[in-house]
Amino acid sequence: MKLTDISWEAFSSLALEQKKPYLERQDGNQMPYHTLFAQQFDRPILERLCALANRIRFINKSKEGALYLKNVLAHKRAMLYFSQPSSRTFLSHLAACQLLGITTGSVRDAATSSEFKGESHEDSIRTFSSYFDMIIMRSPERGLAEKMAWELSNSERPIPILNAGSGKDQHPTQALLDIYTLIRSFETKGGLDGRTVTFCGDLLRGRTVRSLSYLLTDFDDIKQIFIAPKELQVPDDVIDILKAKGVKYEISDDLRAATKISDAIYMTRIQDEWDNAKGESAKIDTSRFKFRAEELALLGPDAIIMHPLPRRDEIDTCCDHDPRAMYWRQMRNGMWIRAALIAATFGFEKSIMDCGY
Ligand code: NCD
Repeated sequence: MKLTDISWEAFSSLALEQKKPYLERQDGNQMPYHTLFAQQFDRPILERLCALANRIRFINKSKEGALYLKNVLAHKRAMLYFSQPSSRTFLSHLAACQLLGITTGSVRDAATSSEFKGESHEDSIRTFSSYFDMIIMRSPERGLAEKMAWELSNSERPIPILNAGSGKDQHPTQALLDIYTLIRSFETKGGLDGRTVTFCGDLLRGRTVRSLSYLLTDFDDIKQIFIAPKELQVPDDVIDILKAKGVKYEISDDLRAATKISDAIYMTRIQDEWDNAKGESAKIDTSRFKFRAEELALLGPDAIIMHPLPRRDEIDTCCDHDPRAMYWRQMRNGMWIRAALIAATFGFEKSIMDCGY
């Protein structure tokens, strides 16, 4: 199935699972070509990507290995097109490209591109595709990456799109690095299956939560707990997926009770840039949705604390040097898993896995 076989209207009306085959590489290896949402990743693909990330991490340790990697995609160029603020997602994609030898260009603010002069997204993307071989894009608009993927696939220069955050909707590459972090954290402790993962904070507007909640359903018997003030609780579409897949979940406002029984606590920032009225979020009492010394004292010895970052005060800095604080390693994992995804997108999974380093 190809995006050239289907109209935009027909494609956009499909359920996410039905869209998946249209977004895969055409060589039958089931790796994504366009990466747009978490529903594209099932467990075998996640495990292959994590294995590839581990492999890249290992190869890069020696100078000879690093130089081999730098040659893998030295013939490719990538455009980082970010029209929303970003530190880690931008830099880790950039670093991932550098690891693989990809040359990059960037727009970090639509005000510095011709969109400011009234150019459409479609024309901007076509422009980028004239000079680059992949577009890594972040946008405040839900669904824009999907539309651009369809447009590009139906243009004279089809190139892959990687969604680095689409509005309040999805952040699939963040979910990949979160899963990679979870898998690595529990790899020598019995694995990720059967664990309890708690999400806390702004679950309504946090796109990382929607994408990760879905990826967790690819594993067996994972319970998901959602802790938030009622105004910011997890939206129905996330819960509907859990119900449809028979996943255990709980909705609560008691972070301390959840901390005692969780294997991972995933803290998130209040996403007040989405407030309808200025100061709306500030009126919500979020004091019980912060991870501090009191919560740390309740956390199990093998449990971990995660955060997509940036953080404000929802994780007290007193937690930062605790071995269970995983957010710094989580951030670095982003570079490895994104390098794996980019290499796989271009069809280099097998050659890296089988190389002699
Ligand atoms: C997140 C995002 O942009 O959705 N940041 C990130 O990519 N690591 C989370 C956030 O901004 O709170």
